[in-house]
Amino acid sequence: MSEVVVKASEVAKSYVRGKESIQALRGVDLEIKKGETVAIVGRSGSGKTTLLNLVAGLDKPTGGKIIVDGTNLRDLGDRQLTNFRLKNIGFIFQFYNLNPTLSAAENVEVPMTLAGLPKAERHDRAIELLTAVGLQKRTSHMPDEMSGGEQQRVAVARALANRPPILLGDEPTGDLDSKTTKALMDLLRSLRKEAGMTMVFVTHDPLVVSRCDRAIALRDGKLVQELSRSEIEKARIGTMENEVLEGVY
Ligand SMILES: Nc1ncnc2c1ncn2[C@@H]1O[C@H](COP(=O)(O)OP(=O)(O)OP(=O)(O)O)[C@@H](O)[C@H]1O
Ligand SMILES: [Mg+2]
Repeated sequence: MSEVVVKASEVAKSYVRGKESIQALRGVDLEIKKGETVAIVGRSGSGKTTLLNLVAGLDKPTGGKIIVDGTNLRDLGDRQLTNFRLKNIGFIFQFYNLNPTLSAAENVEVPMTLAGLPKAERHDRAIELLTAVGLQKRTSHMPDEMSGGEQQRVAVARALANRPPILLGDEPTGDLDSKTTKALMDLLRSLRKEAGMTMVFVTHDPLVVSRCDRAIALRDGKLVQELSRSEIEKARIGTMENEVLEGVY
């Protein structure tokens, strides 16, 4: 039996800027099953970040509904939503969102502090996670003392801190070279095996897409195509009118 962990129905989002209204999402339906790894692709401005933020409860849809692990996010108050996110969702931000005044290890500790984990345990886990992403020598570095790729991996470690059943990543490998990307995808795959983690990645990286069970493409705020794993494998660059590949290559 496969359990649906994320269910989005007719999700719409418009942003209002002055007199202008921008429809970033125009009725998206999406179901993601427990343990699945899904890639979201599409051109710049197609609504990928908007969709991921809504699934994470970081923002509210202007239409439709989003159910995460059986909970309609609309039914949660602010405090409840924060707690729900802390327990259920790890989020890797497109531009990392690290706290510039905290070291790498302290950044990773933040969600554990919010979850009430004791100090010693937090620190040990932060070191363990930073080691897992290859940053054992950077644990006391400040964000501005690290490269983009290193900061990105701190953001990954932080997202994993509370062992979230759902991991959402907005371009989580955008600043990594292919070797580091592979190592990270291997790490995530092992976590998925151990913990049955469900993962959704917004990505432009063919390497990431090739490791996903499914890829969906957004265009102008609509879901326009979906490829299964075998279709991803079969598809070749530049040979077709293919939204998924266009979004990637
Ligand atoms: N806070 C905002 N206020 C107004 N418009 C916004 C806001 N955030 C996003 N948009 C608009 O909504 C649309 C979708 O944006 P979104 O950030 O979801 O795109 P994206 O697919 O993630 O793009 P990228 O690949 O460049 O990150 C764009 O037209 C964008 O300009
Ligand atoms: Mg984006």
